[in-house]
Amino acid sequence: MSGVQIGTATAAEILAEKIRSRRARVGIVGLGYVGLPLAVEFARAGFSVTGIDISEQKARRVNAGDSYVGDIPSAILGPLVDVGKLRATADFDEVAELDTINICVPTPLRKTKDPDMSFIVSACQEIARRFHPGMLVILESTTYPGTTEEVVLPMLTQPGLEVGRDFFLCFSPERVDPGNPQFQTANIPKVVGGCTPVCTELGQLFYSQALERVVPVSSTQVAEMVKLLENTFRMINIGLVNEMALMCGRMGIDVWEVIDAAATKPFGFMPFYPGPGLGGHCIPIDPFYLSWKTRQAGIEARFIELAGYINGQMPHFVADKVQNALNDAGKPVKGSRIHVMGVAYKRDIDDMRESPALDVILLLRQRGALVSYSDPYVSRVRLDGLELAACPEEAAGAADCVVIVTDHTVFDYGALVNRSRLIVDTRNALKGIISDKIVRL
Ligand SMILES: NC(=O)c1ccc[n+]([C@@H]2O[C@H](COP(=O)([O-])OP(=O)(O)OC[C@H]3O[C@@H](n4cnc5c(N)ncnc54)[C@H](O)[C@@H]3O)[C@@H](O)[C@H]2O)c1
Repeated sequence: MSGVQIGTATAAEILAEKIRSRRARVGIVGLGYVGLPLAVEFARAGFSVTGIDISEQKARRVNAGDSYVGDIPSAILGPLVDVGKLRATADFDEVAELDTINICVPTPLRKTKDPDMSFIVSACQEIARRFHPGMLVILESTTYPGTTEEVVLPMLTQPGLEVGRDFFLCFSPERVDPGNPQFQTANIPKVVGGCTPVCTELGQLFYSQALERVVPVSSTQVAEMVKLLENTFRMINIGLVNEMALMCGRMGIDVWEVIDAAATKPFGFMPFYPGPGLGGHCIPIDPFYLSWKTRQAGIEARFIELAGYINGQMPHFVADKVQNALNDAGKPVKGSRIHVMGVAYKRDIDDMRESPALDVILLLRQRGALVSYSDPYVSRVRLDGLELAACPEEAAGAADCVVIVTDHTVFDYGALVNRSRLIVDTRNALKGIISDKIVRL
């Protein structure tokens, strides 16, 4: 291994050789939207991969070659399982046999908007019990800067073992974008920063076996902050464009036309689009990991709080739009039938986490509307003791108002316009269609 002093890095040399020769036994803890695609990439690269998840059901499905992650077809997963390159378990005792571990467990927020570190802590407790010298551990879960060295490192450090010499620890932010056909785990550049230069070097070597491009950075804190900058950038720009939508709405200007025209500027502008609110496990959550941490350092993350407030108002704005559109059509919202098109948090995926559709449905029900929905990816929605089952797209024809919340590409928008009486389009899915029935955000 280049740059490593012989004599002080024997464990590093041994691990590097195992990684280069693909003999390193790879473990992925947390087999969700992030962990399963990563496990598949390393198995495809020729490693023996063990996935560990507390969900026995997920482990069973992986072992049956039955994928539950949209970006991983069972036709890819199945053969890797069949040839013994990938298997899953709920038993942490497997850790004792592993050389590397990537931790891909959830990092949600508590109700107070404080980070919920319980998944990382419990995964690390299990790993620590079976930890052995020579291992490389990489935290991938999005978290606040400092987590790797302040939370994970003390849990893994044992008397006489030194990080960078006897074991290796890195942070590498996960950038996967579910449902994106162009960029997936293998071709999204991977940033990695270790506790020591040797850790970074091993992290870089490890990822470069399976992924196209690896970007080393100087520390775990830089790597942690990279992810928060990326997601905060997105959240704030969405907040800005949502505020633009509110302003344009008040002034009778078409915000979509404004953005399309602005996007013709070949430099210094990047289009973001308004919508019914933020969703998913990243953009609505991650920036609050940063604001929580900076509050402790005495700095208020004011952009984040403001964008969070504006984005949080969007479901209310949508409910107001629907109510006003119905009023203009001479119908009170109370007792009206409202059909929501799309409930996943974004186009062409099945992920409901933090979906703004949930807020829109609740707000409309609170105003007395009878709400139904169509979504080919989500067969049931549970919220506040209520359970809704997906209806066929044709059900929109019976509604007093249709709200397009998620612009899945499989929806037949021409037919939707023909069969509907009134449509509130929060995504500009009906771009180019001119009709008095359409109210745009
Ligand atoms: N989903 C995304 O698009 C995305 C993108 C980038 C980063 N991230 C980040 O990656 C991390 C994982 O997100 P995800 O979307 O894959 O979550 P997920 O909920 O889809 O998957 C997490 C998995 O971890 C398992 N798990 C929970 N606790 C565990 C434990 N103690 N030990 C073992 N397994 C455990 C769960 O059963 C689940 O299968 C989060 O920090 C998230 O912010 C997610």
